[in-house]
Amino acid sequence: MNMRKYVNSHSGRAFGDRVWITPFFASLLIFITLFLTAIFGLFASSNGREQIPVDVILSSKLESDDSSGYFVNSELKRSPEINGNSKPRLPRFAYLISGTKGDSHRMMRTLQAVYHPRNQYVMHLDLEALPRERLELAASVKADPTFHEVDNVRVMAQSNLVTYKGPTMIACTLQAISILLKESSEWDWFINLSASDYPLVTQDDFLHVFSNLSRNLNFIEHMQIVGWKLNQRAKPIIVDPGLYLSKKSDIAWTTQRRSLPTSFKLFTGSAWVMLTRQFLEYCIWGWDNLPRTILMYYANFISSPEGYFHTVICNTDGFQNTAISHDLHYIAWDSPPKQHPRYLSMKDFDKMVKSNAPFARKFAKDDPVLDKIDKELLGRTNRFAPGAWCIGSSENGADPCSLRGNDSVFNPGPGAQRLQELFGTLLSEDFRKKQCA
Ligand SMILES: *[C@@H]1O[C@H](CO)[C@@H](O)[C@H](O)[C@H]1NC(C)=O
Ligand SMILES: *[C@@H]1O[C@H](CO)[C@@H](O)[C@H](O)[C@H]1NC(C)=O
Ligand SMILES: *[C@@H]1O[C@H](CO)[C@@H](O)[C@H](O)[C@H]1NC(C)=O
Repeated sequence: MNMRKYVNSHSGRAFGDRVWITPFFASLLIFITLFLTAIFGLFASSNGREQIPVDVILSSKLESDDSSGYFVNSELKRSPEINGNSKPRLPRFAYLISGTKGDSHRMMRTLQAVYHPRNQYVMHLDLEALPRERLELAASVKADPTFHEVDNVRVMAQSNLVTYKGPTMIACTLQAISILLKESSEWDWFINLSASDYPLVTQDDFLHVFSNLSRNLNFIEHMQIVGWKLNQRAKPIIVDPGLYLSKKSDIAWTTQRRSLPTSFKLFTGSAWVMLTRQFLEYCIWGWDNLPRTILMYYANFISSPEGYFHTVICNTDGFQNTAISHDLHYIAWDSPPKQHPRYLSMKDFDKMVKSNAPFARKFAKDDPVLDKIDKELLGRTNRFAPGAWCIGSSENGADPCSLRGNDSVFNPGPGAQRLQELFGTLLSEDFRKKQCA
């Protein structure tokens, strides 16, 4: 009571006694402050922009590519600074091949089937594999004279505990991408394979066809999560024990449920992706907070590898229209679909080839269909699926790739034609309309 009285009387006196002088000087002071802030703010923001070229380069590059810019050629017309470097640079890929206990031989076979001296390779054997297996894998990489000479294959020394469907899977993929970004400044696309994946085209086919594709296309199968699925997928909260335990155990479900996100939309799709360096730098460097926020959100989301990149790409203006909804794999499901895809065998061969996809999964170890793929699609009789870079003699079963030629020359075969056909469909107007929808 007393207090209130005092306050009242005080304010009453302030306005009563000094009449107009106090309000006048007060507003003058506020006006000057605002004026100076505005001027200072202008200078600060223009300076700030100069200091963050990444931002400017990124947005201008993305904006300058309208929907007709799938091909290097049309890109060149629009940006003369690339033209300055004479001809368009030929592409390079960065592969992650991952596996678990008992997978090292399959990983090695997949590596050899997708090997090309232009590319970069990282192999990760998770913590379930015994140290001996990891050492053996590292030793066989080290013992290969071509890998040794070109120095583009790495076995990750750090082995992570990876939970199927958990965020530790994404953490491991992001770590591999970081290593690839750090080790080589040259690759254009990152590709995610496992030990049970196998290529259906040669790297010469792949490199040749990608030479003419715009460098900002991301191949990531995606769809928005809507309706009842949203409640089912987004409300449960899971905990991945792989984040803090040293032994593998199953994902834990909490009893609490959370509300649906309102600051971004949720997308889901295939965990197999082919992503551009530009998009992955955006995810990993994190100069924009969205990729980091979504990573943290997905820490408690079931099947996060099927949603993280999808949600980031579809919620970022500059990348939305670079997402092509296809995972470049031939995958066969039982009908009705079970939780895991079907193992592919001899009887799937024709369908695999007809799909025009560059990769297929999943294959059992040393399934005879792999030999058929080697023989009929890849021409692989020795270590590698040979390309124009293999210039040695192949007489008497000798390995032509033991003599390394120019890796900028490709010798595309029928696989390149299949790929062209696939990309004809993928880059069509109809297909593009479904982006991030
Ligand atoms: C990457 O590949 C593995 C296969 O080893 C897969 O299980 C995983 O979910 C993939 N995707 C991501 C985003 O990690
Ligand atoms: C790529 O473009 C060049 C020049 O336009 C052309 O000669 C070449 O055949 C094209 N390659 C493919 C795979 O389309
Ligand atoms: C490799 O081939 C490319 C394309 O034909 C050519 O431009 C380049 O000069 C060649 N490099 C060497 C070292 O021969």
